Amino acid sequence: MEQYAIKGGNPLVGEVEIGGAKNAALAILAASIMTDETVLIENVPDVRDTNVMMQAIESIGGIVERIDRHTVKISGKSIMDLVIEDDFIKKIRASYYLLGALLGKYKKAQVTLPGGCNIGLRPIDQHIKGFRALGADVRIEHGLIIAEAQRLRGSHIYMDVVTVGATIDVMMAAVMAEGQTIIENAAKEPHVVDVANFLNSMGAVVRGAGTDVIRIKGVPRLHGTEYTIIPDQIEAGTFMFAAAVTKGDVTVKNVIPKHLESISAKLNEIGCEVEESDDAVRVVAAKPLTHTHVKTLPYPGFPTDMQPQITVALGLSRGTSIVTESIFENRFKYVDELTRMGASIKVEGNTAIIDGVPRYTGASISAPDLRAGAALVIAGLSAEGTTIIDDIKFIERGYEDFHIKLQTLGAQIEKVNSERELHKFRLKTG
Ligand code: UD1
Repeated sequence: MEQYAIKGGNPLVGEVEIGGAKNAALAILAASIMTDETVLIENVPDVRDTNVMMQAIESIGGIVERIDRHTVKISGKSIMDLVIEDDFIKKIRASYYLLGALLGKYKKAQVTLPGGCNIGLRPIDQHIKGFRALGADVRIEHGLIIAEAQRLRGSHIYMDVVTVGATIDVMMAAVMAEGQTIIENAAKEPHVVDVANFLNSMGAVVRGAGTDVIRIKGVPRLHGTEYTIIPDQIEAGTFMFAAAVTKGDVTVKNVIPKHLESISAKLNEIGCEVEESDDAVRVVAAKPLTHTHVKTLPYPGFPTDMQPQITVALGLSRGTSIVTESIFENRFKYVDELTRMGASIKVEGNTAIIDGVPRYTGASISAPDLRAGAALVIAGLSAEGTTIIDDIKFIERGYEDFHIKLQTLGAQIEKVNSERELHKFRLKTG
């Protein structure tokens, strides 16, 4: 089983290049099958989730051609099957985007109902509500969601919760519906805007993405396009916090600083300097970190996908900090692992009360999910001694070459696959 072996203590210093946004890519790949013409997508991160999405597209007859590591050509012309197999849904929840895309294009789709997930209950009632409002018959039978319609008609939809997934899914289903659709209380995340821009580049008429009201004027068909995915806000934020926690000096390149404002603000509050330029941010952690409070919120609030990373930083910050998770109800499972590294954190419901400790100590731990896994790597980088992290497949779902990028910043981290390799790492790092 592959593990990360980390010898902590080196401040991260240097420059790191951020890849395309995984969560935008997942939706854009799904949406690319909505035309019979060829679509060229650039800046697709080469991570497990995007690769699974491309396999899911191939499984229904779509043609996916890799031009280079980050560029793919997709054609949905030869799609024969409107059923997304169980296996893909198990691997990536976001295959529900194929439901919106297939329903929008073929007026029919069938996808296995996504199961539970490590970070708590994740219902899809708002996706279903939106599809129904557009005139689809949506039923759940034998664990499948079956959505079909004679015709889709534009509608006025009010989302009961701010949800990225349902906003994007319903937007995709609505772009070729007859007439106008209005989505109120829409999610405003950068990847919602990116998907809207992508659909517009295919001839859709989507206005207002990035605000809480999205207006869509249905068009009869979409055409081919060439599109470049935005940089990954969460990958960037993860490296920014890695700089803070290791008392480093890291320039995170190829980012949109505006998307990172809530992250930069919190880093400032805990005592880091953050310098922004056009497409980069530099984080310098020269002073001891101090406590703060944070609550996760929909964009432009502090992202839930950065909650474990900030918790790791606050675990090393002087004083008592409070982290409140308001998006997912079970997102503190990694705290047990962090406690094994010496953190002093008490979780009560959706709140973590953190008493900063001077340092973490290396331990053998497991990555419970994608973002928590990355956060534990950061903890390991700052810890005294060696940290071994299991279940790194979760981390590889969303971070491309994570350990290699960290190595270029001076981290002592390696992917090991046997006791022998681990032993070699220990000998090398002393
Ligand atoms: C997406 C991201 C995930 C991120 C999350 C919040 C992808 C592939 N994943 O997940 O990394 O953590 O946004 O930024 O883009 N909800 C409902 N009913 C629904 C849908 C959602 O009640 O039909 C609730 C959820 O339980 C949650 C909240 O809405 O409490 C937000 O979820 P949502 O934004 O939909 O998350 P995902 O799209 O699953």
